[in-house]
Amino acid sequence: MATYRPDSNTLLANDSVLEYVLETTVYPREHERVRELRLITQQHPKSFMGSSPDQMQFFSVLLKMIGARNTIEVGVFTGYSLLSTALALPADGKVVAIDVNREYYELGRPVIEKAGVAHKVDFRVGDGLAVLDGVLAEDGGAKAGTFDFAYADADKLQYAGYHERLLRLVRVGGTIAYDNTLWGGSVAMTRDTLGSSEYDRVVRDYMMEFNAAVAADDRVEACVLAIADGVTLCRRVK
Ligand SMILES: C[S@@+](CC[C@H](N)C(=O)[O-])C[C@H]1O[C@@H](n2cnc3c(N)ncnc32)[C@H](O)[C@@H]1O
Repeated sequence: MATYRPDSNTLLANDSVLEYVLETTVYPREHERVRELRLITQQHPKSFMGSSPDQMQFFSVLLKMIGARNTIEVGVFTGYSLLSTALALPADGKVVAIDVNREYYELGRPVIEKAGVAHKVDFRVGDGLAVLDGVLAEDGGAKAGTFDFAYADADKLQYAGYHERLLRLVRVGGTIAYDNTLWGGSVAMTRDTLGSSEYDRVVRDYMMEFNAAVAADDRVEACVLAIADGVTLCRRVK
């Protein structure tokens, strides 16, 4: 029986397995500036919003494997995943980064500049759905189908809306990643075993619907990874 651990950064059997992965494989080769921004983010009262370092290492390898050049991120917070992404792109790569809150991003921006990748970042402040609609409308629709990779990690209850827009922005063969799709493992638990947070229950129910919709969506080939809080990868096939 899975155990609901809302405060944990991993769905692995216990936190010491995550520590093992971090100490052996992630931290030894972590970029100095990524480490700096990770430590800054850990000081933030909402540090739980930052993506897990093992997940960022996975994205970095994945982006290089697929030769990503143009990417899009919805949900930036301090820019930790944004910096990891920007470092994985070639010198002429670009990441459109969207967040409703500019103050969070300002915490990480100096580190992104120090890392020498600020020229790859196109930060846009605003609601994720509205900004994605704006990107779709730009240059008479010329941006549609031009992104190699997208990472959705903003408002969990807007994932279905992000999916529709990102499917138009990402090219056929491109990848969309959704964070938190296993929501602490709660998607596999009965409602009465969940904690007391109403928000957790609402997101858990939403994620169950979203996961079912993605699994049945013939526009993508999808898989769910039990890394961090659950990451769904979709490859656009039509
Ligand atoms: C989980 S954090 C992102 C973490 C980031 N991807 C990382 O790993 O470092 C979610 C972010 O989404 C932003 N957000 C929440 N609702 C949003 C919305 N409707 N549109 C755009 N951004 C939103 C929040 O301001 C917050 O910074």
